[in-house]
Amino acid sequence: MPDLEKPDVIFREEQRLLQVLKHVDMVLEVLDARLPFTSRNVRLRAMLAEKNVIILNKADLAERNITDCWLGFFLREGRPAFPFSAKNPTALKNLEKKIMQQRPGNLKFNRPLRLIVAGIPNVGKSTIINRLAGTYALKTGARPGITRGPQWIRLRAGWEMLDTPGLLYPYLRNENSKLALTAIGALEGVDAPPAEDVARWLINCIASRNELKRRFLRAYLLDTAITPDFELLLQQIGRMRCSLGPGGLVDLHKTANLIINDFRRGVFGRISLEEPDLTGTLEGG
Ligand code: G4P
Repeated sequence: MPDLEKPDVIFREEQRLLQVLKHVDMVLEVLDARLPFTSRNVRLRAMLAEKNVIILNKADLAERNITDCWLGFFLREGRPAFPFSAKNPTALKNLEKKIMQQRPGNLKFNRPLRLIVAGIPNVGKSTIINRLAGTYALKTGARPGITRGPQWIRLRAGWEMLDTPGLLYPYLRNENSKLALTAIGALEGVDAPPAEDVARWLINCIASRNELKRRFLRAYLLDTAITPDFELLLQQIGRMRCSLGPGGLVDLHKTANLIINDFRRGVFGRISLEEPDLTGTLEGG
């Protein structure tokens, strides 16, 4: 990954998206519903603005009332935004309806709407493309500006969509944003903090709210409280889940990863990691 701490540099993949932008009518900008502010690309925000429709994906993993607050936040910004769950088979029709409503008014009647899906890693771009494409998609061949590589596919609704998503990168505002982005799987490699730090941060978010705490304790069959001794907690969870290393000892790193994966899969139920506020700072950490 490039150096994500530079907010003003447009990276190669983002340049590519800017090229394509001239040929599309709408950008479906996919954000993670659990982290809508931090999973947004600040560099291209202004450029995408006139064409983008925001999809708060993985809404099945986010707290409904907080997602509603985010919808209000984007509405106040004048951006159309919709919650979506690519895993929910019935949500697709609704999304298609919403896209239809946002169709630019000046589009020529006989020309299909052209779309691209874009977003940072792991927010569900490919899953959304697959859902929209379904079994109805047909390759339509080359179009101006896209010589090889990405292909336009014709969708059931008559629209055309690029089969390859636009890859954006998050901006690493501070330590909390790195931890949160790693928790949702959007950051890996050298930029990502160690799994132990991410697990500790997640547990702190969870422990600060009674309902979430109850679900966490239930998930790991823990008795009464989340011990503030992080290593002891990893030992307890690691033993319970047989997350062992050489000599039968609990593997703390593996256990931290296990907790992160359980969060990603929604094992602790719906958890939103940030709420909108005036400054847009993280509430969860
Ligand atoms: P990307 O292209 O933006 O990088 O994301 P991708 O579609 O590959 O999705 C990343 C992971 O998120 C996948 O899980 C995918 O199944 C999951 N996912 C996508 N949309 C949703 C959603 O709305 N709700 C939930 N709960 N999960 C979603 P994975 O474990 O990496 O792969 P898989 O084993 O599920 O195939």
